[in-house]
Amino acid sequence: EAAEKGGFEHFMLKEIYEQPKSIRDTMTGRVPKDSHGIEFTELGWTEEEMAGINKIFIVACGTAYHAGIVGKYYLEQLARIPVEVDIASEFRYRSPLVDGNSLTIVISQSGETSDTLAALKEAKRLGSRTLAVTNVVGSSISREADQVVYTYAGPEIAVASTKAYTTQLLVMLMLAIYVGRLRGTLDIAKAHKLVEGLHDIPEQIHKLLENVDQIKVFATRYGSSEDAFFLGRSLDYAVALEGALKLKEISYIHAEAYAAGELKHGTLALIVEGVPVIVLATQPDVYDKTVSNLQEVKAREAMVIAIAFEGDDSIAKYADHVIFIPRTDKYLAPLLAVLPLQLLAYYAALTRGCDVDKPRNLAKSVTVE
Ligand code: G6P
Repeated sequence: EAAEKGGFEHFMLKEIYEQPKSIRDTMTGRVPKDSHGIEFTELGWTEEEMAGINKIFIVACGTAYHAGIVGKYYLEQLARIPVEVDIASEFRYRSPLVDGNSLTIVISQSGETSDTLAALKEAKRLGSRTLAVTNVVGSSISREADQVVYTYAGPEIAVASTKAYTTQLLVMLMLAIYVGRLRGTLDIAKAHKLVEGLHDIPEQIHKLLENVDQIKVFATRYGSSEDAFFLGRSLDYAVALEGALKLKEISYIHAEAYAAGELKHGTLALIVEGVPVIVLATQPDVYDKTVSNLQEVKAREAMVIAIAFEGDDSIAKYADHVIFIPRTDKYLAPLLAVLPLQLLAYYAALTRGCDVDKPRNLAKSVTVE
């Protein structure tokens, strides 16, 4: 097993460090250099076909569900198609309004999660077109869906998903660019800018992973807390959900993610002196609002760690600590912003002596209902 871990103490850490490669592999052949768009030869969708889709459902469980929430932002904003995101165990029993003009996208690392498979069958039964985004060739979900787009994360062993998640985000963004170009809702210049940004992501991830000492210190210092909160707006909120899940899964710290604008509707009552609050502030359209939420929690003497772009010197005035991520387009920010959250969870779990790769009560793949 030590050999399989390739010198890392845990599979999870190894998988975190494999992300530059898994991102590169998932882009290969789909993001041609100097192009204005994305190619999915496995899909071969046409303008006419896309005109017939008036609604997209994204269905998944766990971390894959969180990738679906990011996918909703991408597809709605870049391809201008309404998207609903569902937890598979809800979708399958709620008589969803799916029909022949719908596309149902299921996301599953393993391709074997029983609720996701059942949701996929239900969508098909109701006449929807179906697409699976999965990491395992030949899995049950890949066989059941009409079409498949694979993530090339490589085998993921640790129960807590890391590299599969970032490749799922990447596929959702590439799909949104692809469909946005087909539908004419995304102009060439913007597509080109996104594609250029994508080419830089593996190197930016690599750079982030080279400098983790600060994160280790925070995890050691705050790992004894029993609660933690993650706040953000827009795409930062979607990433906050995944950050909270990572922390609770492996460190058993009670963690909640909140849309920062919802703070006043409940969570603020729990913000007391010293409670760790991680605030993501990468989205320019809602940046000022997020910073004002940050100030609200700071005023209650919370311990605030902000995640922000390099060069954002102003945020340091309000937060106790700032973890900087390399600058990128707002749509690409989730691919970088989640890394410090994965590492915080990992090092907090280590500090607490938890079994990082095999957290209590959890399984890598939930194949029973
Ligand atoms: C389990 C795993 C999670 C995973 C979820 C969905 O809960 O522990 O890491 O996100 O199942 O799995 P899937 O294979 O469908 O992505």
